[in-house]
Amino acid sequence: MRILITGGAGFVGSHLCERYVKEGHTVLCVDNFLSGSLDNIKHLLDYHNFKLVKGDIRDKELMGSLINGVDVIFHLAAQIHVDRSYIEPELTWDINVHGTQNILELARFYDVKRIIVSSSSEVYGTALYVPMDEKHPLNAPHPYGASKIAMDRMCAAYQKTYGMDVVIMRPFNIFGARQRDIGYGAVISLFTRRVLNGIPPIIYGDGSQRREYTYIDDIVRAYDLVLKYPDLVHEPVNFATGVDYSIKELAEMIIEISGSKLKPIYTNKRMAEVDRLCGDATRAEQIYGWYPEIGIQEGLKRFIDWYRVYGFERWLDIR
Ligand SMILES: NC(=O)c1ccc[n+]([C@@H]2O[C@H](COP(=O)([O-])OP(=O)(O)OC[C@H]3O[C@@H](n4cnc5c(N)ncnc54)[C@H](O)[C@@H]3O)[C@@H](O)[C@H]2O)c1
Repeated sequence: MRILITGGAGFVGSHLCERYVKEGHTVLCVDNFLSGSLDNIKHLLDYHNFKLVKGDIRDKELMGSLINGVDVIFHLAAQIHVDRSYIEPELTWDINVHGTQNILELARFYDVKRIIVSSSSEVYGTALYVPMDEKHPLNAPHPYGASKIAMDRMCAAYQKTYGMDVVIMRPFNIFGARQRDIGYGAVISLFTRRVLNGIPPIIYGDGSQRREYTYIDDIVRAYDLVLKYPDLVHEPVNFATGVDYSIKELAEMIIEISGSKLKPIYTNKRMAEVDRLCGDATRAEQIYGWYPEIGIQEGLKRFIDWYRVYGFERWLDIR
């Protein structure tokens, strides 16, 4: 199979590149390195079936030349950071909405068989009920979530209008090796970096905000089941564990697993922060037979072990 992975130098995308290169497929990875890193994929460069292209999903000419002839697209490229979306809402919209529109239109033109799109649990906003199924209202309070709603709905429109096989995945928070740990990073990576450096993790607000976390290996398995599923799936599908933790509990778990005695530092609440996200992945199980196999304790242990060996200084090349 000839597979295009947008955002392939990022956290999740790099795991997908690795999986499909090692399975022997031809993998085209396109990334503009906004938040991705060569470190994530350089071990793949000497595989003849892996092609890395530095480029932007908004570049129609480039993307046309890449999409012509591919069987499947995994579309992950995005400006993914909520904080960055506060200060760069236009960039966030441009990449996440116009970029996705570009991919959809070219995929339509070149008859791509399946387009697997990463939407996000952030489309929902704070939980009105838990666990949150796919019928939960789309109430994202920040520009990142709003852009994800727009791209998610545009994908549904292409599916319905043109009969295209566009699969909309809504993962809840994901964690694991290669997740960025500085600047616009994810909470588990940020906390782990601080704790392993002997610096207390910083909690915004009182730490009662709740999230749930799926380990990267479970998510890669989810993408693979979606890729290999024989039929068209019409509505978005959540991928979640259904078990949430407060940020305070999360910080305490990371401190304990790291063998540290640090105490978190508390500071002001962040603007427009979602209070609670906890997903219902019943549809994922019914359709794909998917359910998470790796619990939070095991996932954190694996991540912290990985981080001790490979984590430090990975992101210093990021501007
Ligand atoms: N990580 C999570 O917890 C999570 C949860 C739900 C959904 N998602 C979605 O999964 C996808 C991947 O997320 P991730 O955590 O791997 O993030 P990431 O930031 O590591 O990966 C995104 C990649 O896209 C690239 N990119 C950004 N703009 C681009 C552009 N214009 N052209 C080409 N490449 C561009 C970045 O350089 C980066 O490598 C995103 O669409 C995100 O919204 C992630």
